[in-house]
Amino acid sequence: MERSGRVEGKVAIVTGAGSTPGPGIGTGKATAVVLAREGASVLLVDLFPERAEETRRLIEEEGGKAEVFAGDVSENAACAAMVDAAVSAFGTVDVLVNNIGRAALGTVVDTTEEDWDTAFRINLRTAFLASKHVVPIMAAKGAGSIVNIASISALRGDGTVAYSAAKGGLIAMTVDMAYSHGREGVRVNAVAPGHITTPMVMSVSDPGPKAEFMNAMRSEAGLLGTPGDGWDVGWAAAFLASDEARWITGVTLPVESGVLSVTPLMMAPHLRAVPGA
Ligand SMILES: NC(=O)c1ccc[n+]([C@@H]2O[C@H](COP(=O)([O-])OP(=O)(O)OC[C@H]3O[C@@H](n4cnc5c(N)ncnc54)[C@H](O)[C@@H]3O)[C@@H](O)[C@H]2O)c1
Repeated sequence: MERSGRVEGKVAIVTGAGSTPGPGIGTGKATAVVLAREGASVLLVDLFPERAEETRRLIEEEGGKAEVFAGDVSENAACAAMVDAAVSAFGTVDVLVNNIGRAALGTVVDTTEEDWDTAFRINLRTAFLASKHVVPIMAAKGAGSIVNIASISALRGDGTVAYSAAKGGLIAMTVDMAYSHGREGVRVNAVAPGHITTPMVMSVSDPGPKAEFMNAMRSEAGLLGTPGDGWDVGWAAAFLASDEARWITGVTLPVESGVLSVTPLMMAPHLRAVPGA
């Protein structure tokens, strides 16, 4: 018997489906590839079309189906056009992955008003506007799944006040949308990635011993002691998007090697192998 994919025949939109250039893979790019491998047709949305084209090349090489939509998802008109593009290319929308986000360091004292507004625009407004245009399509047919990519920074202190607040807002929005649209057959869940290594993370740390130490710590800090990457988020998002998760809504699934299950002191015996620890 031929096995069908987890999202066979479904249509998915993934926002931020390109990836910051560099070694490794971003969460949106990985999610898009996994959804295509599992049988979905995927609209790849990104501000930088060349990034999304690279994702399309990967998907098409594997025999999957994808189209690129270039646009700024923090703009309402772009979100309307994005949904029209999915419907005209593939006929409907079954899955939306709100993946766009970017971390920024800063306390409540040194974060400027502009930094605050930018963080909310990138991390929260994008998901709000994309969902606004997708939910009516899902509700009209009584089925759909939305996955919001949040962060453990919404759940633990990280020195990223605006980013953390925006991701916390995304988790609250997940619960509220799950409440409002559950009776319409729309499930809404979030994934909270931990200290994964993606090209975006690597691009913000200056190379050198300190960056090497921090990268080692990103792996060592979790219960498993192994590095996580965009694929780990992609598989979690694909599960929540699929009918295998048909009775799951309103949850935030941590993908973080268990870092939320320990205190730093409890991890101390395991961190001795890290240089400089
Ligand atoms: N990397 C981590 O350690 C980590 C941890 C927790 C959460 N996350 C979350 O995972 C998500 C993706 O992270 P990543 O490291 O893969 O990032 P990434 O920068 O590699 O990918 C995000 C993509 O979104 C695109 N984008 C940004 N703003 C856009 C806009 N307004 N409209 C359209 N496209 C836009 C970018 O061009 C980029 O290609 C983010 O939400 C991030 O907050 C990452």
